[in-house]
Amino acid sequence: MASLPLSTVAITNISSLHRPHPPRLPPPPHRLTISCNASESHPSQVDRRNLLLGMGGLYGASNLILPGDAPASPPPPPDLAKCTRGTNLNLRQPLDVDCCPPFSENALDYKLPSATDIRVRPAAHLADNDFIAKYEKATELMKALPADDPRNFMQQANVHCAYCNLTYDQGAADPSNKLQIHFSWLFFPWHRWYLYFYERILAKLIDDPTFALPYWNWDNPKGMAMPSMFVKENSPLFNPRRNQAHLPLIDPPPYADLRYSKKSSTPQDKVVQSNLTEMYSEMVRSAVNLEDFYGAKYNLGAKPDPGAGTVERGSHTAIHAWVGDPNSPAGEDMGNFYSTGRDPLFFCHHANVDRMWSVWRDLRGSKPKEFSDPDWLDTSFLFYDENAQLVRVKVRDTVENLKMGYTFQKVEIPWLNKRPKAKVRKAKVASTSSAPKATDTSVFPVKLDKVVRVLVDRPKRKRSKGEKEKEEELLVIEGIEVDTSEFVRFEVFVNDEDDDPSDVIDLAEYAGGYSQVPHKNAANVKSKIRLGLTELLEDLDVEDDDKILVSLVPRDGGEDITIGGVKIIYV
Ligand code: C2O
Repeated sequence: MASLPLSTVAITNISSLHRPHPPRLPPPPHRLTISCNASESHPSQVDRRNLLLGMGGLYGASNLILPGDAPASPPPPPDLAKCTRGTNLNLRQPLDVDCCPPFSENALDYKLPSATDIRVRPAAHLADNDFIAKYEKATELMKALPADDPRNFMQQANVHCAYCNLTYDQGAADPSNKLQIHFSWLFFPWHRWYLYFYERILAKLIDDPTFALPYWNWDNPKGMAMPSMFVKENSPLFNPRRNQAHLPLIDPPPYADLRYSKKSSTPQDKVVQSNLTEMYSEMVRSAVNLEDFYGAKYNLGAKPDPGAGTVERGSHTAIHAWVGDPNSPAGEDMGNFYSTGRDPLFFCHHANVDRMWSVWRDLRGSKPKEFSDPDWLDTSFLFYDENAQLVRVKVRDTVENLKMGYTFQKVEIPWLNKRPKAKVRKAKVASTSSAPKATDTSVFPVKLDKVVRVLVDRPKRKRSKGEKEKEEELLVIEGIEVDTSEFVRFEVFVNDEDDDPSDVIDLAEYAGGYSQVPHKNAANVKSKIRLGLTELLEDLDVEDDDKILVSLVPRDGGEDITIGGVKIIYV
């Protein structure tokens, strides 16, 4: 019978590159009972760290190994002693699981098998019983693998945990510099590789190379409820740690809220409109430039969380928080990055995030579809493949899903023509406002424990004719500091003077939002977001105004959000 091909080249001994003579040790038990703090150094853990740093060694391990691909700023070796077990920040205790994967010394450079037969990922709400039976069988087999097999379901869940909870010193001057594959341009590529191997493991377990993960079509009203295949109690796809009020067990089933916040959810009778407006904003209006869609650059020596792209901080985060159990200590499983991979629904959710990447690329026409920066293209990660072999993969091999051998079942894209209408089309709204100027030194930094309104000047532009069309005007919210252990959300509105702008559910005044899934990070990280203004100002008919009124509206955890400044730039 068909088995999945594995083509690999160039064996490299990762450990030996980090340490001159690493002791060879047998695989550790998959779950350590000892704690794993930096202060306690056990030989086996040191060795495990070598592997972990390979796992996390985007800049360290990979680039040391491949001298031909030297990055712009060659990284010093990472500080192995800083690798610890993740912390559950809400409980201020070590995580209940050691995220470290089983030990393996040799990583192979992964080469994509030539894609002859393209696997088709089905929309979950359209999947038939045969498909569901296959998916259940494969997941059951994955859960039944030996606990220390890296393809085992919990081990797979741990991979996600490891990549966002590793305490990893990048060798920069600031020792609080930690590895994090969210909140930057690594978000889409890393998660695509993660799903790719998860899918291939499932396919191999049922010996069916055509198997492909279903996607949760939450950007389409027909798929906005939680897919029902995940809520049958005796199914391997079931997980009890979800928000029980959001299960699709009543008629009509509740729809996911893509602007979800715990304190002020969108009412169900408005949620479709709100979601389509949100998707339009994330995929079209605010995603004109590469960085705005993908997230900000993150390379050696950079602090984590430089800034997430529109989808990551929007619909993606909303689904995590909407599914996670509000009664578990830290929103587990989906509502926290360390535990999210334990819910089979995670992979269905992320298959749609992955699809958004493909759809966005298709919408680009002749505009650039990805970065050409080698710091991005040559970033590499480690995963275990379907044969339990540790492999090293690169971002450059993941930009096109077809080359990776899969595509998505085609469905309608109902948000494409949902350009919102303005509540008020009126010039010079801002000039009558008494709000302070964003440049007043007394305004920022400001805590978002209430709505904050500021007047923002639009810098004067000197330009020749024709230049304007190429430029994108962006509202930059910078110096965003949040408590990373909390779910937070705020939204941004332009020229909306109401005390409660929450009625702006599907209107042009909504410029975008920022949400965050709780995770482990150094506390002093500052992030920024950029929101597209060009279309918005057109829609409000205020393109000629010289200033706009910006409202920052806290939705969740406002006490934990500080904003450093607001300005307008042209790109
Ligand atoms: Cu790595 Cu949606 O999370």
